[in-house]
This record gives sequence, structure tokens and C-alpha cells, in this order.
Amino acid sequence: MKIIKVDTHKTLSQVCAFMFEEQINKKPNSKICFATGSSPVQTYIELIKKYNQGLLDFSQITTFNLDEYVGIPTTNKCSYHYFMDGNLFNHINVKRENINFPNGNGNVVEEAKKYEEIIKKHGGIDFTILGIGTNGHIAFNEPGSTISDRTREVQLTQSTIESNKIYFDKPSDMPLTAISMGIGTILESKKIVLIASGTSKANAIRDMVLGPVSPECPASFLQLHNDVTVIVDEEAGKYI
Ligand code: GLP
Repeated sequence: MKIIKVDTHKTLSQVCAFMFEEQINKKPNSKICFATGSSPVQTYIELIKKYNQGLLDFSQITTFNLDEYVGIPTTNKCSYHYFMDGNLFNHINVKRENINFPNGNGNVVEEAKKYEEIIKKHGGIDFTILGIGTNGHIAFNEPGSTISDRTREVQLTQSTIESNKIYFDKPSDMPLTAISMGIGTILESKKIVLIASGTSKANAIRDMVLGPVSPECPASFLQLHNDVTVIVDEEAGKYI
């Protein structure tokens, strides 16, 4: 793992956006996997800036997202579809037909299989942006997840429900399951950049970087990948 420690969340986002720019310049038709959550929002603002400055062209990329809640419409303002539209896709020239999400509605077992097939059909993912949960989850791979996991429906843990329910009008609206790429799916991405900021992430970052590779900290499986860059601010990186 390559570790980049920076002073603030803003710098972290600029570094992540720079790495993204390098990727697209090297391979304009890259297959990109995006994350949701608060961690990448500023990175997406940086990407939009670069697009507006003419430094980035998204017209040839194909996108995938890591995860989506099960059982809420894609138009729901808490869905990850809605999040990606509002925070990135509506502001850049990515082609609508090139945007892919796991589908959390309908037959989720079938949808999960289909998602894996679509990724394979595109030749796999080139570049993945990841956040990390306070319990070490990546995407929605909660503690207990293993390296052989593929896209599937997952139960959310109480800690994830607590962290994410603030985004829902009524906390009881928060789904208890999600459809998520598995650790195995994520590790097949050619390049992975994980970003984290703030003290609440410090323990998870320590366990991911220094701890044993273990399902207790799903992000620790990233130690097994040969091209992972972890970008942290001082607070998230204070134990490493
Ligand atoms: C969510 C998402 C993850 C994200 C994580 C951290 O539950 N499924 O992809 O990385 O939690 O979120 P945040 O960046 O808001 O701290």
C-alpha cells in the first residue's frame, strides 16, 4: 500500500482528483468505479472544476458504482443513484448509457449476477475510488466479509445504520440491506485509491494498514492488492 498523508481534506481531494486525471489522460475510455458517502464529495467537486477548465473529458469513460440500497427507488434522494447524479454525473459529460449501478430493486440475486457480468463484459475496472466506514467496511462489505465475496445483498450493521440514517428524513426509512460489490470484485480493479479524513476514521485506517488481513476489518484485504494508494488527512492518519 502506498500511503499519502496530507494536511487537510481539501488537499486529499485535490490529490485524488489529480490521480483520476492522470488515469483518464492515460486511458480516456477507462472503466471507473465510484464511491458514495461524504468522503469523495470534495473530490467530485475538484473533478467538475477540471472538467469546466477543459482538463478532463469524461465522454469515453464507463462508470460503475460500488453499491446501492435495496428496496428504494433510484429517484429517492437518499439513493446512491441520486447522490451520484447530484454530486457528479449531472455536471460532467459522461454518457448516460455508460453509467452502471447495481440494481437494488427486483430480484436482487439475479441483479447481482448481472452486475458482475456487465463488469466482466467491459474487461474489468481500471480505477476505483473508495471511502472507508468507521468499522473498516469498504462499499457495504461489513466485518465478516471475505475475499471470495462477489456482488450480493448484504445486511448492514448497526454502526453503519447509525452513521447513514442521518441522511434519511425518517431514520426508520433507512434500508437494512444493500447490494454491494464484494471484496473479491473490488480487488480485481487494476488501481484502487482509498480516501479518508477525520478522527472517526483513524482506527479503521490503522487496522487496514497495520492490522492483520482479516474479515474483522474488510479494508485490510486491500493489503493483498498490488496497486492501492491510501490518501489520508492528519486526523485519519494519526495512528499510521
Ligand atoms: C457508506 C458507503 C461506503 C462509504 C462509507 C463511508 O456506507 N457504502 O462506500 O465509503 O460508508 O462513508 P463516508 O464517506 O460518508 O464516511
